[in-house]
Amino acid sequence: GSLQMYVDQLPNMPKIYGYSMQDGSPKPVTLTMGMYQKTWKFHRDLPPTPVFVFGTSAEAATFPGPTIIAHQGVPLSVTWQNHLPSSHILPWDPTVPTAIPKNGGVPTVVHLHGGVHPPTSDGSALAWFTANFQETGPKWTQVTYTYPNVQPPGNLWYHDHALGLTRANLLAGLLGAYVIQNPSLDDPFNLPCGDTFDRHLVIADRSFNVDGTLFMNATGINPSIHPQWQPEYFGEAITVNGKAWPFLAVHRRKYRFRIINSSNARYLRLALSNGLSFCVIGSDASYLAAPVTSQNILLGPAEIADVIVDFSLWTTNEAELTNDAPYPYPTGSPAGPLNGKVMKFVILPKGTPPEAPDNSTVPTKEVNFTSVVPTDVAVTRYITMYEYTTATGSPTHLYINGKRFEDPVTETPRSGTTELWNVINLTGDNHPLHIHLGVFQAIKVQELLDLTTFKNCMTAINDAVKCNVARHAVGKVLPVPEHEKTWKNVVKIEPGYVTSVVVAFKLVETNQKYPFDATGEPGYVYHCHILDHEDNAMIRPLKMLP
Ligand code: C2O
Ligand code: CU
Repeated sequence: GSLQMYVDQLPNMPKIYGYSMQDGSPKPVTLTMGMYQKTWKFHRDLPPTPVFVFGTSAEAATFPGPTIIAHQGVPLSVTWQNHLPSSHILPWDPTVPTAIPKNGGVPTVVHLHGGVHPPTSDGSALAWFTANFQETGPKWTQVTYTYPNVQPPGNLWYHDHALGLTRANLLAGLLGAYVIQNPSLDDPFNLPCGDTFDRHLVIADRSFNVDGTLFMNATGINPSIHPQWQPEYFGEAITVNGKAWPFLAVHRRKYRFRIINSSNARYLRLALSNGLSFCVIGSDASYLAAPVTSQNILLGPAEIADVIVDFSLWTTNEAELTNDAPYPYPTGSPAGPLNGKVMKFVILPKGTPPEAPDNSTVPTKEVNFTSVVPTDVAVTRYITMYEYTTATGSPTHLYINGKRFEDPVTETPRSGTTELWNVINLTGDNHPLHIHLGVFQAIKVQELLDLTTFKNCMTAINDAVKCNVARHAVGKVLPVPEHEKTWKNVVKIEPGYVTSVVVAFKLVETNQKYPFDATGEPGYVYHCHILDHEDNAMIRPLKMLP
């Protein structure tokens, strides 16, 4: 049978401050954060589930991990420690490019998603390490990472990034939220704040076996090629902050929700069952230029929406947060009665403490560094997404530009510049393209006509210019949603379209070069954030030139 919905309360994950206040000003600190195996209760009626999770100790570790609160301009050092056992709790596949230690153990490495930081602290897939750093990957250099937090305030998250194991390590629970704040910038917006009214919703779909263990398919769709790899992981239960279909009791007032789609592969098109709207104030790690009202929000894996919901406008006493995104997106199965529900909001009776007046407001204006200037373009690139299949059309692997991850780097931007990337999606699915270090914005999404001719040419010679992309990219133009018009780190790439994105390799708030050396080893990456695609191997290196 299936689990009863809305019986567990939405938890607040523990908060860890990445700075300390001394004489009224924030000072740098060093944190130690461990990865532990433990069990986690995902639902009142489900036995405890073995997970791999982050925490300052095994007892304190949670699914998702603690929320780290950093301060803009204050560097934070984190020593990430692996305390995981000798073998994985989930199946994995040695035939995709994978970190395989000689003496066992679970390879891990932590990436701060959305972070602007030196390559040595980026969590390269090849900088993995096992328990106690017993074994390390070929690009491992250091135990302690430093995040300069030089970018604007916003929502980030941290998660595992080990080569070929990212999908299994995140599925097991190696993820958590990270916030960069700066009271002098955030406070004037007068948003709902504090632990009660400013909440994270870290959403992840999972399937469970009856004994409570996480279900992940142990057999691949083409087992003679890849014994375990499947093109997408989809779970039937939707968890929020580590509970399946939780509820949140709310006051009739405004709340801020920082919504992170931390699913491996599932897109979420979120809406409120009473038909009321979200007021979107931020996307990924950036505020918008001004709030945007929207009845639904489509989040690809790893995308983030920062929203205000005003429960004082509700005439109903409760409403569900629903999801109607097909999976795979956009032409897969329709969302069903289970994965089509996320959580429920229940309005508390009047007079329930804390009964403070709601003095928060929705700002009329936010930041002014979001507009793009496509005249500054230093380099124009064509980035093509390919899917490879068996003779019967079943996917075997995916590549960017027809290249393997280990093929020589081809994307080599310079610090301080902007580029134009025309991203061509020749597959049947939407892909959430994610870039490390840089930020981007879609400026044009245009359909490719006579797609078969273009695809055949690309399959033969893999050259967008010679295959006349400009002559094919003359179809329908899709609008970029208003609430995605800011500097993002994930852009959804529509199948059969060219998505032109302006990519900024600089501090967008000040238009300055990075205040650290972004060149050098182990470099960065860009990839599809459907983790099953990233692992096999829709990922390419990105190396900054001086
Ligand atoms: Cu959120 Cu390269 O990852
Ligand atoms: Cu993909």
